[in-house]
Amino acid sequence: MVVSYLTAIKILSTPPGPKAKKIVEETNKVLSPSISRFYPLVIDHAHDCIVTDVDGNEYIDFNSGIAVLGVGSTNERIVKAATDQLKKFTHYSYTDFYYENINQLAEKLIAVFPNDGQTKERKQVYYGNSGTEANEAAIKLARYATRRPRMMAYMGAFHGRTMGTMALTASKLAQVKGFSPLLGGVEHAPYPYCYRCPLKLEYPSCGFACIDYIQENYFDKYVPPDEVAVFFIEPIQGEGGYVVPPDDYFKELFKRFGKYGILFSDDEVQSGIGRTGKWFAIEHFGVTPDMITVAKALGGGLPIGALIARSDLMSWQPGSHASTFGGNPVAAAAALAVITEIEERKLMDNARKQGEYMMQIFKDWMEKYEIIGDVRGKGLMIGIEIVKDKKSKEYGVAEATRITELAWKKGVLLITCGRSTLRIVPPLTITREIVDEALEVIQSAVAQVNKENTMKNGHAEHS
Ligand SMILES: Cc1ncc(COP(=O)(O)O)c(C=O)c1O
Repeated sequence: MVVSYLTAIKILSTPPGPKAKKIVEETNKVLSPSISRFYPLVIDHAHDCIVTDVDGNEYIDFNSGIAVLGVGSTNERIVKAATDQLKKFTHYSYTDFYYENINQLAEKLIAVFPNDGQTKERKQVYYGNSGTEANEAAIKLARYATRRPRMMAYMGAFHGRTMGTMALTASKLAQVKGFSPLLGGVEHAPYPYCYRCPLKLEYPSCGFACIDYIQENYFDKYVPPDEVAVFFIEPIQGEGGYVVPPDDYFKELFKRFGKYGILFSDDEVQSGIGRTGKWFAIEHFGVTPDMITVAKALGGGLPIGALIARSDLMSWQPGSHASTFGGNPVAAAAALAVITEIEERKLMDNARKQGEYMMQIFKDWMEKYEIIGDVRGKGLMIGIEIVKDKKSKEYGVAEATRITELAWKKGVLLITCGRSTLRIVPPLTITREIVDEALEVIQSAVAQVNKENTMKNGHAEHS
């Protein structure tokens, strides 16, 4: 028998409660309908891993405000750093003047930039306000530095929502429909999504045929590689479904295409700042990119995005790129506090520890439940892919949505990514006790949907 010691969750009445319903109604009247939401959660306040809604229900946060709240909500160190800076000066456009804390933050970001162990080229930092802006800057810098017109990105990628970064994005139809023509010169290559190999092969016997495919079908046919400025990569595909490539994939990719002078821009907007148990997810793959973009978790909830690039690439002229709010001093103070918090509390160790613990449990669930097709991840960036059944691998879209709704109603904030993948991305501060409590809720939701599915489809339930 499983003994339950529920402590963190407090559900007073099944959400959404009356206050939440009223706010959702008002929201629908006054806010742009272009925003799509998972379920009608209306937040009142939050601390660390616990979120309280406007009707007094308390939930365990398993999505960290979409991978932003790495150090948890209202973290004392971040609140103090931001408040102190707010009182000192709130803004003094870095497009035109100077202040110091953005230099300290840049030094930190440069210090943690992955090193190939041989050279430590000088790096420099550009600041914007979001992941999209960081990637937009990477597009502009790559074009400027190489004077090449074309770019490569991946199918399933998500790099942002501006006309430039949207051209790199290939994740969901709704994100691009109605907005074409997009920025030209971008080609999308198959991502190493081995559970659903686009070439229907198996790793490792495939011998990275998906890399050969890029050579044969793009670079040998209609995309002259010496016209390609940059290849945008996500080391773990985020919105695309928390897809983890094989360990040696990027080594092979960099070796094969670096020789053409193509830059590699590593989008760590979702996977970076300790999330996978390392500062940057690319460190798991033993390669050194030319540029890295970060945002989300960097500001601990305040908007900041950064592009860190080799100094020899940062050759653009004064006036060529900037942003009024970029590198805002309050956001920079918060970001410095985020980095200190991760270091002092050894939160990357915790991410690894809790992540490994959960992976083991999810793998056991995969044996047990027909609707779990795949489990993959690093640190606290884990995807559980829900399918209708293991054999057909048909996306379990309705099933995944239902699991997240059931989990929410029982007190765990869980969301999806890709077509039908549960996205496990709690704050790096999460404790074993809270993990256990959340997993009990998630498992009961998975078991319920598995059972409903079994009854509907007549699949045998694994014991
Ligand atoms: C990998 C990746 N890149 C870029 C972005 C865009 O970031 P933002 O929403 O801050 O513009 C996201 C957002 O989800 C992301 O996950």
